[in-house]
Amino acid sequence: MKKGTDALTNVASAFGTPVYVYEQSVIENQCQKLLKYFPSVAFHYAMKANSNPEILKGIRKQGIGVEAVSLGELSLAKSVGFKKKDTSFTCASLTEEELCAAAQTGVRVHLDSLTQLETWGRRALGREVSLRLNQGIGAGHHAHVITGGPHSKFGITLKDIPEAKRIAEKYGLSITGIQQHIGSNVLSADIFIKAMQTLLKTAEAFPELTHIDFGGGLGVPYAPGEKQLPLQRVGKEFVAMSKAFAKKHGREVSFAMEPGRFIVAESGSLLVSVVDVKETSAHLFAGVNSGFNQLIRHAMYGSYHPIENLSRTRGTKTAISIAGNVCESGDLFAVGRPMIRPEIGDFLAIRNAGAYGFSMASNFNMHALPHEVMILGSGRVKDISFSPSNYAL
Ligand SMILES: Cc1ncc(COP(=O)(O)O)c(C=O)c1O
Repeated sequence: MKKGTDALTNVASAFGTPVYVYEQSVIENQCQKLLKYFPSVAFHYAMKANSNPEILKGIRKQGIGVEAVSLGELSLAKSVGFKKKDTSFTCASLTEEELCAAAQTGVRVHLDSLTQLETWGRRALGREVSLRLNQGIGAGHHAHVITGGPHSKFGITLKDIPEAKRIAEKYGLSITGIQQHIGSNVLSADIFIKAMQTLLKTAEAFPELTHIDFGGGLGVPYAPGEKQLPLQRVGKEFVAMSKAFAKKHGREVSFAMEPGRFIVAESGSLLVSVVDVKETSAHLFAGVNSGFNQLIRHAMYGSYHPIENLSRTRGTKTAISIAGNVCESGDLFAVGRPMIRPEIGDFLAIRNAGAYGFSMASNFNMHALPHEVMILGSGRVKDISFSPSNYAL
């Protein structure tokens, strides 16, 4: 259950703003849903969604592995206790040195291109390989996060499979894994199911396959009117299709998925303070002490986040534009949002900010990164602030 306004007001008063606050119980519930509806799937949390070490530790304790996309993420994942066997790595546009370093860690690497496959063979990085495929199916909340289809830079397209096999043969490699990731915040069960079915069909072209990874992308609702992804239905369909696959092919393969957003998005809120109120001919702006350098989703994707005024629950609603403190006019958290008119000093909670919030934050304009705290299951609030630059490679 997401905490109400009192708990968040207490955090804002005690820790100051801006501050990210996460709720441990929400993260645990999301993990439990995945494990319940997909009992035969190994989950690898896509840590790019939120790589706070305490959050990573909590997710690991739920029996979930991790997916990393850089050497820095790999090193952070290892430092919080993820084992090699529970870690996977996917990355486009890697240097040869980075690919070799990732391979040497011994985690499963999903190769993104024929170039990476060629390097893998030439540098003798291992006999078994896994390929990230772009099957032409893409989905997601914004063009920037649709990772399948002709406009995506990711993966090996189906037309290149014969060439991939030729390279594998040349170096005596065995293609034992395939992976896809169609995009982020997919709320349509049908698209997700279709992409899984298509990958199982594609799998037939790889006789040595032992591992199939369906990527991440499981969505959560942000805006009013958006519906939950019917996870139970996706799980049911998956169980049926994986059984049919094993029956038809007379072999068991292991399955994985890499959700990021689904696990952490709804656990987090960014708490900010109103520091200015300004009226123009077009807007009533509430200026806050945070900006897109701390939560970029609205500025980058036009994303909707529910925003609550924690300090003011009564009053008539009017159209408010929430402006940040970054020197760009696109630095807005909401435009014309019906809200009670905020006053200077009010606390606002920008909800559903647990995924791609802090992890995409920067020091733009030389602002410090916000603090992060966690409301533990016991109700105690723990300061879990960390410096990503200590881990970046
Ligand atoms: C390969 C891969 N797996 C998993 C994810 C996680 O996506 P999401 O947070 O939407 O579940 C991503 C997101 O970019 C990705 O590129």
